[in-house]
Amino acid sequence: MAVLVTGGAGYIGSHTCVELLNAGYDIVVVDNLSNSSAESLLRVTELTGKEFEFYPISLNNRPDMEDIFRNHKIEAVIHLAGLKAVGESVSVPLRYYHNNISGSIVLFEIMHAYAVNKIVFSSSATVYGSSEQVPITEDAPLGATNAYGRTKFMIEEIMRDLHVSDPTWSIALLRYFNPIGAHESGRLGEDPNGIPNNLMPYITKVAIGELQELQIYGCDYETVDGTGVRDYIHVVDLAQGHLKALEKIMTTSGVEAYNLGTGQGYSVLEMVTTFERVTGRRIPYRITTRRPGDIGMCYSDPTKAERELGWVAQKGIDEMCIDAWRWQSSNPDGYQDEDTFDEVHNPKLIVM
Ligand code: WQD
Repeated sequence: MAVLVTGGAGYIGSHTCVELLNAGYDIVVVDNLSNSSAESLLRVTELTGKEFEFYPISLNNRPDMEDIFRNHKIEAVIHLAGLKAVGESVSVPLRYYHNNISGSIVLFEIMHAYAVNKIVFSSSATVYGSSEQVPITEDAPLGATNAYGRTKFMIEEIMRDLHVSDPTWSIALLRYFNPIGAHESGRLGEDPNGIPNNLMPYITKVAIGELQELQIYGCDYETVDGTGVRDYIHVVDLAQGHLKALEKIMTTSGVEAYNLGTGQGYSVLEMVTTFERVTGRRIPYRITTRRPGDIGMCYSDPTKAERELGWVAQKGIDEMCIDAWRWQSSNPDGYQDEDTFDEVHNPKLIVM
């Protein structure tokens, strides 16, 4: 029996694969590598000593996806694959709806055909939209304000309808707050394409001297120092939240959403000063105008995950910054995809 991890080569995916393998699960990974590197999967094997099968395909490739379910006994799915850049989603919405929603529908149809009805889904705090009510609980009003967030919201709704049609479905919707940091080894980490949109990868690129200075988007929010406050969560804590959710869906049915955050908010300036303190690197910055679509305060009430999954974030902001810096300083150019695979013989299946 195996757990299928879609998007398993990505930032969250690779860290989740490490936790799954270390917990003794067999996994099969699917990833089209549009925003990730197969090198990360080689490092998953390096860190765990475990092998697994990897299919470099898209979820929309129905025949190849069916082959996976035909050739493997899949017992559950952890569905992380998806485009996730908020700004990009505003300029190319159809690409996001096709990739995220159509791809998910193909996955769900094949799961149904093969009687696989247990799934952990990578959702996002973005589904809460511009909710200024903090801390945010799972029953807060939903209202995404961009195409990316709407794909996450719509996929949640599709899965709720699936459960109504067949109550044996067992679904955990994990609403991530702000994942940052990296595996303590420094071998896995966040490797965004181009100039980072998100705060921490931008800070680490400034720290290695690749980018000159950080633009801080606004200092006139009603927060501790006027800069934006967010609920940063260590990516390893997030990965372990997936393990706990998997354990739960294996023994229950139903659809439940869970906030994966620390419940603690930190401002941009607090992140900068923390990073400088724990790494000794200086982060020059300039205060500019607010970024369109940003809100001032966003942090979670994570107590439902603690109560129902037995999960609590363990790592603090210092460790998040130290681990993010270790990754970036030991991988200044991120993952370099050497010619790691001989894809001539079997372009579909690569055994790690
Ligand atoms: C954090 C804070 C910015 C960059 C996004 C997505 C969300 C999720 C996580 C996928 C804000 C400020 C940032 C910079 C800055 N992704 N900032 N200068 O916007 O909270 O959430 O990533 O699920 O869906 O919306 O994260 O890291 O972009 O911003 O001042 O160069 O840092 O204004 O206050 P965000 P972020």
